[in-house]
Amino acid sequence: MSNDHKLRSQEWFGRKDKLGFIHRSWMRGYPTAVFQNKPVIGICNSWSELTPCNSHLRDVAEAVKRGVWAAGGFPLEFPTISLGEPYMRPSSMMFRNLMAMDVEESIRANPIDGVVLLCGCDKTTPAQLMGAASADIPSIVVPGGPMLRGMFKNKEIGSGTDVWHYWDEFRAGRVSEEDWCELESCMSRSVGHCMVMGTASTMTSLAEALGMTLTGCANIPAADSRRNVIAQDSGKRIVEMVHEDMRPSQILTQDAIENAIRVDMAIGGSTNAIIHLVAIAGRLGIKLPLSLFDEISRTTPMITNVVPSGEHLMEDMFYAGGIPVVMKHIASLLHENAVTVTGKTVGENIALAECHNPSVIRPLDNPVETEGGTVVLHGNLAPNGAVIKQSAATKHLLNHTGRAVVFEDHDDFMARHDDPDLDIDADCVMVLKNGGPIGGPGMPEYGNLPIPAKLLKQGVKDMVRISDARMSGTSYGTVVLHISPEAAIGGPLAIVQDGDKIELDVENRKINLLISDEELEQRLKTWKSRPRHYDRGYGRLYIEHTLQADEGCDFDFLPRWAGQGELDLTEEEAAKRASENLPLAF
Ligand code: FES
Repeated sequence: MSNDHKLRSQEWFGRKDKLGFIHRSWMRGYPTAVFQNKPVIGICNSWSELTPCNSHLRDVAEAVKRGVWAAGGFPLEFPTISLGEPYMRPSSMMFRNLMAMDVEESIRANPIDGVVLLCGCDKTTPAQLMGAASADIPSIVVPGGPMLRGMFKNKEIGSGTDVWHYWDEFRAGRVSEEDWCELESCMSRSVGHCMVMGTASTMTSLAEALGMTLTGCANIPAADSRRNVIAQDSGKRIVEMVHEDMRPSQILTQDAIENAIRVDMAIGGSTNAIIHLVAIAGRLGIKLPLSLFDEISRTTPMITNVVPSGEHLMEDMFYAGGIPVVMKHIASLLHENAVTVTGKTVGENIALAECHNPSVIRPLDNPVETEGGTVVLHGNLAPNGAVIKQSAATKHLLNHTGRAVVFEDHDDFMARHDDPDLDIDADCVMVLKNGGPIGGPGMPEYGNLPIPAKLLKQGVKDMVRISDARMSGTSYGTVVLHISPEAAIGGPLAIVQDGDKIELDVENRKINLLISDEELEQRLKTWKSRPRHYDRGYGRLYIEHTLQADEGCDFDFLPRWAGQGELDLTEEEAAKRASENLPLAF
């Protein structure tokens, strides 16, 4: 470990002038020694009572602080906006970039040498990774961990997934009102995020696959005492990383990102992971074409048997050995030399991993599926791509042609889908428009459209559904999502009409509207845009600058290739600027 690296925080605390006086004096209650050449570690906390999945992160922060102090650092916890998946309107995704900017600017503006990122609920992990990647000071991720398994009448239930399942059963009259009410109290039994392989578990697992957490960190249940132990170890490690000047740009390389895509496919990860990984890579100046995801998907068997693509819950995944075991089983497909926050390579980190339950994490030669969980589709309906989670779909629907039943937007769907006179049968393809980044806005997670009640009562459990929206990582079904370009900007989805035929051919990665090129061209010429959702504030900024789903939905001015003046400065120049940007009162 090298100790000769000049600490960034000393530009604030190490000064002998009036500004140094101010910087130390305002940090009340600490002895002078804590300011003297000790790494100042920011603990970036997404705690909020409005983000219940992250509501225990203050306790986790205390454990991190113990580690930082023990290693000779000076921990300072700070808040950012938090994104509570169940509550935020119109969609937490609309605010991911706001949080990423908050994280980035909070890091850059303050006297910190390294940062510990406390995350959990879906968008909080990618937002922190995006912000930290852009700020590029030593960073380590500590997720809050999944909840304990849900239990209903001695049966395991998974967050999200079993809500969709039992809601359909309730609407079909197969679950009583009493049971429906009891289920509500059985789902969320402890602190932590959703405990299926939804977006939160996927993104925290991918943070580990990227090399941004300590080994084995991602899947420890939030209520397990080992969560605080690894938080403390992470606090100790970030101090060492500061001395080593080990930054995200050294860890989040093309190899690391390809490793994360491999792991995403092997765990049957959330479709949302594709958008987030594209956005994170963009912050490093790495362009990820959707074709890369498909290439990796075709060559990566899905080996984890976890809901919604399998049978078990995240608690079982942890007991089976978690992400280190997944990575060990697919090691032959990984870049094992990728460097991680441990200071070691992926190969070194996973060398001793052992599988304790092969029914949860299968060996490579006995996978759950021979391909990855998510695949990418193209066709005249999605010229820039769309995705489907084939591992959570109904096999016989993966190659299907059906009559389109079109809903112009989510309100239209809610008003008509349970109408007994709706002209629909099980072979139809339900089409939802205007659920994309701009149309939603923020790509709300309603792409897994509920099956119409009259079909549920006939015993229909799945249908092909297509949209430019997203779906929760906890969802399942034959659902095509993220169609790009979206309907709201005149993508071909906008001109689909009731009665058109739509062809889904997952094996050949196709999604097509079966009309002639001339007809399609003609309809696009007469298409008219709708009024946009916002004319002021953050909503306007979002609508004017969000990229499409295939580009990661980051703002067009935030990826590395969009130009990042601050990062072009030398460290001395940046520090000078920081000292000049003090409040006028001083
Ligand atoms: Fe927070 Fe599912 S609602 S992770």
